[in-house]
Amino acid sequence: MKCQEDKLRKVIDLGFEISQIKDIDLLLEKVLSEARKFTNCDAGSIYVREGENLKFSYAQNDTLQGQLPPGKKLPYSTFTVPINNNSISGYVASNGSILNIADVYEVGSYFPFSFNKTYDDLTGYRTCSMLTIPLKNFRADIIGVLQLINAMDSQGEVVPFAQDDEDIIIYFANNAATAIERAKMTREIILRMNKMAELRDPKETGPHVNRVAAYSVALYEAWATKKGLPKDEIDKNRDVLRMSAMLHDVGKVAISDMILKKPGRFTPEEFQVMKLHTLFGANLFADIYSDFDESAAIVAINHHERWDGNGYPGYIDPHTQQPLPGFETESGAARGKSGLEIPLFGRIVALADVYDALSCRRCYKEAWDESEVLQNIQEESGKQFDPELVEVFMDCVDTFRQIEKLYPDHE
Ligand SMILES: [Fe+2]
Ligand SMILES: [Fe+2]
Repeated sequence: MKCQEDKLRKVIDLGFEISQIKDIDLLLEKVLSEARKFTNCDAGSIYVREGENLKFSYAQNDTLQGQLPPGKKLPYSTFTVPINNNSISGYVASNGSILNIADVYEVGSYFPFSFNKTYDDLTGYRTCSMLTIPLKNFRADIIGVLQLINAMDSQGEVVPFAQDDEDIIIYFANNAATAIERAKMTREIILRMNKMAELRDPKETGPHVNRVAAYSVALYEAWATKKGLPKDEIDKNRDVLRMSAMLHDVGKVAISDMILKKPGRFTPEEFQVMKLHTLFGANLFADIYSDFDESAAIVAINHHERWDGNGYPGYIDPHTQQPLPGFETESGAARGKSGLEIPLFGRIVALADVYDALSCRRCYKEAWDESEVLQNIQEESGKQFDPELVEVFMDCVDTFRQIEKLYPDHE
């Protein structure tokens, strides 16, 4: 009994913790890791509802992860399952109640579904016990499904999921559902803000900003882990960085179409106007209500600075567009920021943005080969980019390739 009480208390605390996470991807990661810790299971996945389907949105698997070199992420592809009785997750989403199966290979004819072995056949994994929980928001709408796989006893042997834990995990899932719904809405709003910028500048597409955000988070995570930063701090920063990185170019909404949609090269005057998107972006987040506003402003104003000091806009007041006192050069322009004067998030997004621009095909250029892109980045180490970040970047190339597959350009 005491043990259940402790578990309940833990789950209540967790509800608060997850309600603090703003970004949907990081939230799914947290929800799944905590649910797995709680039930001591080897693997799991989260499906998020999209209309009449469930989208396989996130997965973890300790056994398969353990077979990869350290630091490498488990590859997974997204797919959808219809909400009907033909699959386990579809069944739980359409019936709305928790399902606890001791061995998915032995469900027999009692249930209308059968277990889909494709993933096991592909990976050599053996799925056995499975706890599938509907994610219901406070209106009791089902917004997805949480699936936990292979509970383990203290010896690491696979066992069925404890029935005693079901009520607590349902409570946790309800909290998670509300948080997921809110985070999805935040993501939609950010993507919509970005759509406004995209309407003006067709180069700033949804997939581009999703990739830049994911690259930025991967870079930050690798950098921070190398520095030995505490996990709590890393998680909190990943959350704000992700959303800020998505909005790096949102200031383009304020730049004239004549310039944004110009097919050829910019004249020097046009380029001067174009540079203002950094300041307009910073102004959008000037009223700081949260860490997110602060970090979005930092990313917007710093993502075109260069390590060698030749970037823009430099030490400028975004409101007056004048150099900050003491930072004028002889010509009266603002001095550029260089090296560690550029905030970390600015240095990270600068690298992620250029990497994506080089590796993708755009209307005015073909995509470069990966080796050319990597060589260019390496050559720009200490010139355009922070050398320490370039070093970290080179270790993340595999993760970047996976991110590219996750957010393909729609032609
Ligand atoms: Fe930009
Ligand atoms: Fe960009």
